[in-house]
Amino acid sequence: MRKPFVFVTRQVPEESLVALKVVAEVEVWPEEEIPVPRELLLEKAKIASGLYTMLSDKIDEELLNQAPHLKVVANLAVGFDNIDVKTASERGIAVCNTPDVLSDTTADLTFALLMATGRRVVEAVDYVKQGNWKNWAPLLLAGTDIHHKTIGVVGMGRIGSAVAKRATGFDMEILYHNRSRNIEAETKLGASYVGFDELIERSDYIVCLAPLTEETADLFTYEVFQSMKSSAIFINASRGGLVVEEDLIKALSEEIIAGAGLDVYREEPISVDHPLLRFSNVVALPHIGSASDETRHEMASLVSRNIAHVLRGDKPEAIVNEEVFK
Ligand code: GLV
Ligand code: GLV
Repeated sequence: MRKPFVFVTRQVPEESLVALKVVAEVEVWPEEEIPVPRELLLEKAKIASGLYTMLSDKIDEELLNQAPHLKVVANLAVGFDNIDVKTASERGIAVCNTPDVLSDTTADLTFALLMATGRRVVEAVDYVKQGNWKNWAPLLLAGTDIHHKTIGVVGMGRIGSAVAKRATGFDMEILYHNRSRNIEAETKLGASYVGFDELIERSDYIVCLAPLTEETADLFTYEVFQSMKSSAIFINASRGGLVVEEDLIKALSEEIIAGAGLDVYREEPISVDHPLLRFSNVVALPHIGSASDETRHEMASLVSRNIAHVLRGDKPEAIVNEEVFK
């Protein structure tokens, strides 16, 4: 009997595919940095039982409508806003992601971004490398403190909690806003649940970690930036779609906030002439939240196991649409 066909949309660590190859015939798009062209993805989807996808692949209704054999779409990411989950569920297609294994790694990067932005680390490195360091001066590249400041976490899930845990080591006051209360974060980390408006007004560091959904899209508008302290620093490590980017640009131009640390954008990748890159107080990273060697290997193995489980008829370790298995 022929094994089911699985298409992998990017080069991934070879050893992570071993388990998958036992149950499936696996084809890998041979590029490491170039996404699979849409037309080819649609072709492969027509014959695939499983798709191993990146967050940059659009798995929409058009694709799902032309994928009669498809049983599972497994994303190499915790976020899954690139996948039309509703349509997948209607077709009985399992949607899988990679939660938990990346929470600490993403929290590390988020905190690094917060610190780099607050203490102007990137500006300072450029200053030295460009030969501008002629003298020591009392307020040379003076930034904002991190310790004892107030951090406001928007989206207190696993990653948000891991960021809050790091904040406790800096004696920060921790506010959070979330769809539902996170009692563990309150009791273990001393985080206080507040309304969104209060969080925005009181925080020195506003850290966006909520997933992109219909409810969170365009959450950060000009009005929201206007409500922040003029010393506030905005950090986004979830999805660019939560931020109205032109409003952020306006807020930075008018010095309504003190800076921004961004790992994500509305359209990725951004080009070198993106207006956000003109600001010296913006630290811009290329969506590397979970990008440690260890974690990317763990994520890749989890994606393979997720697909292998579904193809065997078992429930995968990480499923977004549980209802498919009821
Ligand atoms: C990365 O952004 C992810 O969702 O894992
Ligand atoms: C992601 O897994 C989150 O819950 O923040």
